[in-house]
Amino acid sequence: MTTLALNNVRPYGEDATNILIDVTRGVIEAIGDNRFDDADEVIDCGGNVLLPGLVDMHVHLREPGREDTETIATGSDAAAKGGFTAVFTMANTNPVIDQPFLAEAVWEKGQTYGKCDVYPVGSITQGLEGEQLTEIGLMARSGVRMFSDDGKCVNDPQLMRRAIEYAKAHDVVLAQHAEDHRMTAGAVAHEGEQAARLGLRGWPRVAEESIVARDAIMTRDYGGRYHLCHASTEGTVQLLRFAKDQGIEVTAEVTPHHLLLTDEQLKTYDGLYRVNPPLREARDAEALKQALLDGTVDVVATDHAPHGSEDKCVEFEHAKPGMLGLETSLAVVHRVFVETGLADWRFVAKVMSERPAEILRLQDQGRPIAVGEPANLVLVDPQSPWTARGEEMASKASNTPYEGIEFSARATATWLRGTQTYGAQQD
Ligand code: DOR
Ligand code: ZN
Repeated sequence: MTTLALNNVRPYGEDATNILIDVTRGVIEAIGDNRFDDADEVIDCGGNVLLPGLVDMHVHLREPGREDTETIATGSDAAAKGGFTAVFTMANTNPVIDQPFLAEAVWEKGQTYGKCDVYPVGSITQGLEGEQLTEIGLMARSGVRMFSDDGKCVNDPQLMRRAIEYAKAHDVVLAQHAEDHRMTAGAVAHEGEQAARLGLRGWPRVAEESIVARDAIMTRDYGGRYHLCHASTEGTVQLLRFAKDQGIEVTAEVTPHHLLLTDEQLKTYDGLYRVNPPLREARDAEALKQALLDGTVDVVATDHAPHGSEDKCVEFEHAKPGMLGLETSLAVVHRVFVETGLADWRFVAKVMSERPAEILRLQDQGRPIAVGEPANLVLVDPQSPWTARGEEMASKASNTPYEGIEFSARATATWLRGTQTYGAQQD
């Protein structure tokens, strides 16, 4: 048995303790007051915080098709550096992940690389065209746990009804990108004062909220495990609250950028700030924050969306929507909730690891830090000032909206089943 000791560590930011990991089996072997100094590898964690490995329900790793902007390997590196041990990569690749063999290839590549469990998301409609449903059953049988046309909305209500029914029959999660495309044609920014002043075509809140309302009612009547991608408005929060109060089983995510940034950023006309759904107003960000605190919104998901500079360093209207998120999300969540005293590390573990693992029914992620549990872990230094720089990211792309911003928390080491996937000791 090969062992690793994490001495002087604070699980969930609470009392300091010492942890022994059985690296061979990839599980936590012992936890105790005495340091484990006889382990094969001994790390003094200096009282840093230990959390269960983070789980991201929503990333774009661009493979197959746009390997010039991200691959499963570079995305896994970015994930490990951000503290993640599992990610779900969306189906809007080229080709679209709409058949079992494509989904299986994504999973296999992730496993071969070995830095992060990369779960494929299957598309709801063939080629993401919104016309024909995919073989949800076949893909589910090959291990796909979540289906989404993310990047596009399943607008057609009849098709959505069928998708909900199939997803229910196969007991998989259906994740909706809520955007009524008939209301957002040509839109590049949140419809509000900023867009009006800057002369940018607006994407109104109702384009999201009308789909959320419709889908909540469909979920009420046809059941299934419905998940809302990137909630972005105050009205969406109210609708989710209504749905949950009615006992409708919906779950929802919010991105770090919709929590921290607003459409004030657009003043710069910098294409880095173009994203779908768009950055909204302060009252939306505030409502999303409260919703995450009270459980109306379940999880934080990054919507990590790498794009090359040829698609970002262009006029705002021509920039592709999307922002990097994997390497900054922990720092942003720390800034918004922990630094402000709104929440503690238990909360971070819940919204970035435990709840996403629960929603996707991952048996080995988001588990308690306890003896016998899988050693999927991230060590966090809450006071290690660092400045976000796109060029320094492990991601192949550099389109971070936090360029030059100083954060205080960062992941310093990540372990997947006891094997270190990121951190100073290994590099
Ligand atoms: O900003 C976004 N970028 N939103 C999406 O829904 C898709 C994503 C992408 O694929 O770039
Ligand atoms: Zn997305």
